[in-house]
Amino acid sequence: MKHVFITGASQGLGLALSQYFSERGYFVYAGCFSKDAELFGPGKVLRGDLSDEQCVASVFSGIETLDLLINNARFCPSPRDPECSESEWWDKNLVVSLKGTYLCSLAAMKLMKTRRQGAIINISSIRARVANDAARIPYGAAKAGQLNLTVSFAAEGAPYNIRVNALLPGVIETENLNARVPPERLAEVMRNIPLGRAARMEEICHAAFFLAENTYTTGIALNCSGGLLMD
Ligand SMILES: NC(=O)c1ccc[n+]([C@@H]2O[C@H](COP(=O)([O-])OP(=O)(O)OC[C@H]3O[C@@H](n4cnc5c(N)ncnc54)[C@H](OP(=O)(O)O)[C@@H]3O)[C@@H](O)[C@H]2O)c1
Repeated sequence: MKHVFITGASQGLGLALSQYFSERGYFVYAGCFSKDAELFGPGKVLRGDLSDEQCVASVFSGIETLDLLINNARFCPSPRDPECSESEWWDKNLVVSLKGTYLCSLAAMKLMKTRRQGAIINISSIRARVANDAARIPYGAAKAGQLNLTVSFAAEGAPYNIRVNALLPGVIETENLNARVPPERLAEVMRNIPLGRAARMEEICHAAFFLAENTYTTGIALNCSGGLLMD
């Protein structure tokens, strides 16, 4: 049985990934922070703040074997908290997506190197590759940073048969989408998506599954955005 650690598995895409990989026979380590995570089969809930180095070490002490890490957790940038200073806003956006991805990747690589196999998927965003509105500049910077972590860890991992890839969704139909984005803004966003709709969560899970299972793909950023970003 393969083992996957999915960060941010309490809701949204992480929860869907947890169910998707569970249904395909994976043992799921489901990461969460402020809420609990649900399990859909064999697995274990791992709670902790992944932006904190000691917490990451303690979370990884609960993992015995690891075939796949999915760095999915993030701080949600919508809507912007009006109480935050620019500096606080920058830090909030970067610590989970970027520092958390770095710390978890280091810990996962250590486990995977001993077995000379493994894979890491960084859930980035097309925001890494486009100009962002003022409130989402730090978020875009964090997501762009994940792309450099992807190629750097891919190069480091390749001699150990560890593959590292990124996934770039556009807009995902998560349970919180309507709550996070005002209806008029959402309608405008949808008009700009060439395929005319947000991604269903299983479509993003399917792309992640390809990156998990395809043994000759490493160092790529897979754009799965309905044409919102065209390479
Ligand atoms: N939603 C979209 O349309 C969209 C589009 C493009 C890319 N993406 C990317 O897809 C991924 C999932 O998005 P989503 O909308 O499903 O996310 P989300 O609903 O905002 O959920 C974020 C997850 O991250 C966890 N988290 C937050 N802070 C944490 C911390 N300090 N330590 C550990 N975990 C922490 C949360 O855990 P708790 O709830 O337990 O606190 C939650 O499970 C993200 O990387 C996002 O950038 C999403």
